[in-house]
Amino acid sequence: MDRWKFYDITHRDHLICNPTSVAKLDELIGLLDLGPEPRALDIASGKGEFIVRVAERFGGPSGAGFRGVAADISPYCTADLRARAASRVPSAALEVLEMDGAEYHPAAGSFDLASCMGGSWVFGGHRETLHFLARAVKPGGAVVAGQPFWRKEPGAEFLAWSGLKSDQFGSHLENVEAGEAEELVPLLALVSSGDEWDRYETLQWRAAARYADAHPDDPDVAELISRVEHSRREYLNWGRDTLGWALYVFGARSRKSGDRTATAADPDTSAGADLALT
Ligand SMILES: C[S@@+](CC[C@H](N)C(=O)[O-])C[C@H]1O[C@@H](n2cnc3c(N)ncnc32)[C@H](O)[C@@H]1O
Repeated sequence: MDRWKFYDITHRDHLICNPTSVAKLDELIGLLDLGPEPRALDIASGKGEFIVRVAERFGGPSGAGFRGVAADISPYCTADLRARAASRVPSAALEVLEMDGAEYHPAAGSFDLASCMGGSWVFGGHRETLHFLARAVKPGGAVVAGQPFWRKEPGAEFLAWSGLKSDQFGSHLENVEAGEAEELVPLLALVSSGDEWDRYETLQWRAAARYADAHPDDPDVAELISRVEHSRREYLNWGRDTLGWALYVFGARSRKSGDRTATAADPDTSAGADLALT
């Protein structure tokens, strides 16, 4: 079954494709310290609820004061994102790219906000994601990363069932420390509750069941249901107690505080030079 079709069906009823509630996402956006007319980058943007809300909040009526770039590899997600942006922030200068986020090379220091929620594999891990995002923002800019963490040591049965590796995620502390290691300042860490996790996981069960009812002749239905059943057992047996999720907000140091982050104005990194960060 096509990977993105599976993801589209199972996340059909999700506004946000990670275990964060709408209320918490709004709270986080309200806490972002962005100046007027910000420029934002969102990698693995999904249906774009985050960047569209940022445009609504900071871009003024119809989003005219907002500029941004959103990149996602799924054609289903980018279609949703374009439709959302057109109806809610029609005047925003939002570029939607259907591509592998790892292939997007922003000029250093060219954004006020750079984010990646639930897509750290794009860059090969959480620390690498923070490295990419930190380079993309200006001094004083904001970095937002949504990342799982181990609540406790994952057991062998869970790892075997899920195919996850124990070193795939860190602890909550290690997720924050990864930002510090990238010379970012930890500003916020909003951890999802069990309720937010349950909603995120179980909406997938319902979406798959609804799809199967409505499309009995789709040859992908058997695989869809079997994969969702597998993941339901994984979540209920182990994942619910073992895996956490948080949105981490970091600040890029300003020049005054001894920052070494390159900016678009640096002679050796500007002149339109895109950074190859991998
Ligand atoms: C867990 S979802 C998160 C979506 C969105 N950030 C959100 O929180 O609502 C992961 C997203 O990563 C996208 N994705 C997966 N691999 C990607 C890649 N190599 N480059 C860009 N996007 C990718 C998927 O299409 C999906 O939309």
